[in-house]
Amino acid sequence: MKTILKNRHFVNLESLSTTEINSLIERSLAFKRGEPAPDFSDKTLVNLFFENSTRTRSSFEMAEHRLNMYLLPFETATSSVQKGETLRDTCKTLEAIGADGLVIRHGATGYYEELLATLDIPIINAGDGSGQHPSQSLLDLMTMVETYGTVEGKVVVICGDLQHSRVARSNADILKRLGAIVYGSGPVEWYDPAMGIPHLSMDEAVEQCDILMLLRVQHERHDGTTRFDPADYHATYGLTHERMNRLKNSAIVLHPAPVNRGVEIADELVEHPRSRIFEQMKNGVFARMAILEWCFSTKSIKGDDEDDNTN
Ligand code: CP
Repeated sequence: MKTILKNRHFVNLESLSTTEINSLIERSLAFKRGEPAPDFSDKTLVNLFFENSTRTRSSFEMAEHRLNMYLLPFETATSSVQKGETLRDTCKTLEAIGADGLVIRHGATGYYEELLATLDIPIINAGDGSGQHPSQSLLDLMTMVETYGTVEGKVVVICGDLQHSRVARSNADILKRLGAIVYGSGPVEWYDPAMGIPHLSMDEAVEQCDILMLLRVQHERHDGTTRFDPADYHATYGLTHERMNRLKNSAIVLHPAPVNRGVEIADELVEHPRSRIFEQMKNGVFARMAILEWCFSTKSIKGDDEDDNTN
């Protein structure tokens, strides 16, 4: 194992080995079981959210608090971003002031590429446009492993607005790498063949899946020309009561949220015993603690020096 650590950015799961990802899942579950959190009181973080967020921002804040980090306040609405400052200059400024790491959500897919070449402090990607949402994927994996012990061999169907969803893209890639059988479902016009997952109808999906992962329609990333009728969408692509009754007894329902109740899922089913939606939110804090520990720990972590992340 390496003894000198590189700067650990957490921008996608693609750049991590499967051993590192499994270690992160294990650490997330350990924190949930009550493992003491390490003390990072010498670290100052800044959370930069250029897109709205409830869960990701709040759970990163909670994770930073539990790791005893100092959180330097930053609001895009009152910052010099409003005077035309670039993302790169904002980040370089925060690094110069003394930030040890930046948690960033931004609408530009791959925004972090130029930052990786410029900054000497870790970048933690809290979502980039329609690109990746790796901390969401980690908490989703944690929730699946918590339920089944493994994702290997499990049938996962990701349903909805696949083309515009960073959650779908992150999850499809990592689930395939970890041995799950992954399908897509939802409107064919939003199906993205480049994701490399076969398409099922929603009726086929509910009968085959172990894990049904529902997505919100990402209206903010559409060009505004699509006719959208929530009731039609629910009937054709949503999790209705009738479809819920056809799931396997052991199957679970995930959704990254925010949920549009009555659209991708019937209102009352959000709190159904097989829904893990609020458990995912709880798990998000532990997964983000594990991510921050991974970024800032000076200890070697199993899998650091492996090179099994190229597929
Ligand atoms: N799941 C998720 O990313 O939620 P927020 O947009 O509220 O952070």
